[in-house]
Amino acid sequence: MILRCIPWLLYGMAVTPSCEVPSALDLKLMKEVTVNLGENHAISPFVMSTLMSQVWLATNGSTRDEITPVLGVTQPAPLSFLTAYKSAISYLSSSSASSQLTTSVFNRMYVRSGFSVRPTFTNYLTAYYGNTVGTFSTPAQGVTLINGDVAAATEDRIQDLVQTSHLRFAEVVLVSAMYFKGVWKQTFPPAAPGTFLTGNGEKQVNMMKLNLTELQYANMGTYDVVALPYTDEDYCMLLIRPLERSMSAATALRNSLGTLSVNSIVQQLVGQPVYVTLPRFKIESDYSLVDDMQQLGIKQIFSAGADFSSLTDDWQGLFVTAILHKVFIEVNENGTEAAGAGAVIIGRGNPPADFKADRPFFAVVYNKQHKINMFTAYVGDPTQA
Ligand SMILES: *[C@@H]1O[C@H](CO)[C@@H](O)[C@H](O)[C@H]1NC(C)=O
Ligand SMILES: *[C@@H]1O[C@H](CO)[C@@H](O)[C@H](O)[C@H]1NC(C)=O
Ligand SMILES: *[C@@H]1O[C@H](CO)[C@@H](O)[C@H](O)[C@H]1NC(C)=O
Repeated sequence: MILRCIPWLLYGMAVTPSCEVPSALDLKLMKEVTVNLGENHAISPFVMSTLMSQVWLATNGSTRDEITPVLGVTQPAPLSFLTAYKSAISYLSSSSASSQLTTSVFNRMYVRSGFSVRPTFTNYLTAYYGNTVGTFSTPAQGVTLINGDVAAATEDRIQDLVQTSHLRFAEVVLVSAMYFKGVWKQTFPPAAPGTFLTGNGEKQVNMMKLNLTELQYANMGTYDVVALPYTDEDYCMLLIRPLERSMSAATALRNSLGTLSVNSIVQQLVGQPVYVTLPRFKIESDYSLVDDMQQLGIKQIFSAGADFSSLTDDWQGLFVTAILHKVFIEVNENGTEAAGAGAVIIGRGNPPADFKADRPFFAVVYNKQHKINMFTAYVGDPTQA
């Protein structure tokens, strides 16, 4: 894949060109969501790294510092990732009609009308991520707008990304979506029944089998990898399989995801004849990623003390109330269709309050129906019995 790296100058700040979007989150997030290996899962690392890098831009101080290593934003020129997103997004947005391959990227920021976003932040998103800006007045209006945009951006594969309850306290919603449709360079003959090892034993599935073909392949010791090219050979599907056919080997491979790098695996592939057999599959995933991000070490953005001073002057009490992610992927004899969308919702809402009655306090026993103050107590010293 050829990504052009052009240095961009924004507001007098020289931004160092860089070819790679931060990828540290990718497999770590996959590891987080694949706790149950008896279930199918799918994420879009590019969508989530796009969104989390925008959150990085919105934050400041220790709130931002916490995101830096998880995302893999490289110091000491942290803004260099912006040019990488710009070139990646422009590349993915220009599908070549001749290659039977479609890719598109959608990025939009939705702001509650009346809420004021720093122009610098908006300018970063529009200049580097191609964002447009939408406004909403009510949660219901925001839901209609966001879900309509996301469905349109994903050929209707991602529906109902957000719900009214998500937007109740929202000031800003960052949304990203991506769509991909590719035809195999070499399509498979019709699938035939075969067995597949699952967490619940052997199951009969539809297996697709390719004749002996020269493909990019690597044996990595405990797992091996093959790349299936699409008609546009800048794109491929990497299949990564534990060498041993057992659930414990699958678990070991999953556990090692945090230390694997797709980019370095790709560099080790070499051409050789391979027989490929894989099942048809279709996965629809729907995640709320707050707990997963916290597990990965991103915590402050979810607390009322989050520093969103790079997003707005009115940042006191703002925090991320939800991170939503939906993905669709279908693989068959002809190729692959995949769509993903994510939303980061920033608002005030009700952060978990820490009410510790470790000082004198009053207590009222109250009936709401008849508005009766039934008892009132003053607790000045709980040790007095
Ligand atoms: C696979 O290869 C065999 C032997 O070369 C050939 O007879 C057969 O037609 C091939 N099948 C497909 C689907 O290409
Ligand atoms: C970010 O934090 C630094 C250090 O606390 C401060 O100097 C700067 O003004 C902050 N940036 C914004 C946009 O508030
Ligand atoms: C693959 O494409 C062919 C030709 O367009 C079509 O007839 C067939 O139904 C497709 N197969 C699947 C599984 O979509």
